[in-house]
Amino acid sequence: MNNKILVTYASQAGSTAGVAEAIGQTLIGEGLQVDVLPMKDVKELASYNAVVAGSAIHGQKWLPEAMHFLRNHRVELSQKPFAAFMVCITLSMANAEQYREGLKSWMNPIHGLVHPISEGYFAGALDFSKLPFSFNTLAMRLVVLLGVWKQGDHRDWSAIHTWAESLPSQLRR
Ligand SMILES: Cc1cc2nc3c(=O)[nH]c(=O)nc-3n(C[C@H](O)[C@H](O)[C@H](O)COP(=O)(O)O)c2cc1C
Repeated sequence: MNNKILVTYASQAGSTAGVAEAIGQTLIGEGLQVDVLPMKDVKELASYNAVVAGSAIHGQKWLPEAMHFLRNHRVELSQKPFAAFMVCITLSMANAEQYREGLKSWMNPIHGLVHPISEGYFAGALDFSKLPFSFNTLAMRLVVLLGVWKQGDHRDWSAIHTWAESLPSQLRR
């Protein structure tokens, strides 16, 4: 087995992909060998020592593609160090801290499948020009019109970097 880490993600509009890239860059900076791949392009996990997986949140859930990935690989993920992250817009709100505890429950379906050694929760980005027109995105536009959420890139690179820096000691087993 190579001494390699997989950072994999499910993203609709690209902000979670950017978070995964930043995590990968931090791990490389820490001297690790890293592949950053969308979940749909992951063929196998056998060549990785550890896995970091994350998803954008839609409707308080990981994307279906991400749940599919966890279900498909749950046995292997239980045998390797595994860390998880999620990217959502709630954490971009001015009063985000009051929601931080509550949104941990969005990980419950994930905990039914796998047991992350560490979890990162990050603010994402909202850009309607990158989203399809659908009932769900229409509902999101309404929430923005009501002033609850704001369009824009709210990713906190420092928080992402700090979490990623904490991983190597936990992922080496
Ligand atoms: C259809 C839809 C539903 C969403 N639902 C939630 C939600 O329930 N809670 C939340 O905090 N953010 C929600 N978001 C915001 C996304 O999690 C956020 O924009 C994230 O950065 C998107 O990641 P991506 O750019 O990788 O697709 C939703 C976004 C969309 C488009």
